[in-house]
Amino acid sequence: MKLPHHLTIKNGHLHINEQDCVALAQQYGTPLYVTSEDRIVEQYQNYKRALLARYPKVQVLFAAKANGNLAVLRALAKVGAGADVFSSGELHLALDAGMAPEKLLFNGSSKTPSDLQIAVEKGVKVSVDSLDELHQLDAVAQEAGKTVKIAFRVNPALEVPTHPKIATGLATSKFGIPHEEIPDAYRQAMSCKNIQPVGIHCHIGSQILDIDPFVKAAEVMVRIAQALTEMGVKLEFVDLGGGLGIPYHHETDPAPTPEDYAGKVLPVFRAGVEACGITPELWIEPGRSLVADSTVLLTRVNSTKSAHKKFANVDAGFNLLIRPVMYDAYHEVIVANKADAPLTTEYTVTGPICETGDIFAKDRRLPQIVAGDIIAVLDAGAYGFAMSSQYNCRPRCPEVLIKGSQVSLMRKGETLGDITALMQRPPWQR
Ligand code: LLP
Repeated sequence: MKLPHHLTIKNGHLHINEQDCVALAQQYGTPLYVTSEDRIVEQYQNYKRALLARYPKVQVLFAAKANGNLAVLRALAKVGAGADVFSSGELHLALDAGMAPEKLLFNGSSKTPSDLQIAVEKGVKVSVDSLDELHQLDAVAQEAGKTVKIAFRVNPALEVPTHPKIATGLATSKFGIPHEEIPDAYRQAMSCKNIQPVGIHCHIGSQILDIDPFVKAAEVMVRIAQALTEMGVKLEFVDLGGGLGIPYHHETDPAPTPEDYAGKVLPVFRAGVEACGITPELWIEPGRSLVADSTVLLTRVNSTKSAHKKFANVDAGFNLLIRPVMYDAYHEVIVANKADAPLTTEYTVTGPICETGDIFAKDRRLPQIVAGDIIAVLDAGAYGFAMSSQYNCRPRCPEVLIKGSQVSLMRKGETLGDITALMQRPPWQR
């Protein structure tokens, strides 16, 4: 199987950043998330380099929803990344990680009064999703005696080749303001006393492996930039949204790179803004492509079973990685302690959750498996731990971070005590 260079096979074992996954599983226990910090930084630099080679003002904002571990955000903050934050919680994380407020965009289609207050107080830019929200934000800023810089989230009405649950810029999507109503929204924003409209923002969808939809989005956005500039809006940034999809099927999926993205999108962007006579910052906010392949989820085989087919029952379930059950997503799996053994037998790898859909991998050819083997689920760094839960009363597992030859926990595993810690006994049960 094709592997990214931080994943290697030595002495029959899968290694990540030269660390033996089997040894890590023994040392920290399973299930276990293991992440390569070097890989994340490399992916960030790939975007930065490809974009900066074609346009002078670029800001890469990590979509914090993809991986909310503070150590991951800190690693990205250190190399200069900002963040797209979708809640006050993500804003808190990004600031705590050391990201400068001016590099943050507070997104969200349903912000609470307290979200708006925090955004104003911390001085971050806000991507406004509706006119109702605009007027609420204006009132909050007035109360605080501040001016808040905003973008509107544009709904570009674009069909994109991805799972319908993660296509975010369809005409029918819940996000943003229809593109044809955008000039009027800016007119209203310009008449708000405590609002300064300085940007435009869109997001067309996630796990898109074709560059053309991003080009189409850039075309829509520069058309809007032109109209807004003519209206007198001084655009400081144009945010083209999330990043590329990743080749979850290692052998067969296309693997577009930031270079491919920049090579096609930037000429359109650059020509568009030059035609308006402006040089706004170009922002993009990738999540998946920065962190997905940095991480493996290691899980131990509890038992095998031959029924109508062969099952390998592992100790991680969709409580830890929900993507296969939620989006029918495909993740490659490798038996980490038999990584170069012949693939002789077909298995379905199933979790311990009491639901039929708790399946990581269906009908895969793998080496002969026995209880105690360690299975690595690949590409688990985006929307993996971030979407985990305690369903079935399962404490969430630890996360380990590797940088160079250093290895450390970046999150302790939960205990049963953590599951009940916040539960309260109602007085009538005392
Ligand atoms: N910006 C905004 C406003 C977004 O809504 C998203 C993702 C991103 C950036 C990052 O997009 P990316 O570069 O990761 O494609 N849980 C799903 C993915 C949901 C994505 C939602 N928005 C999954 O596991 O596939």
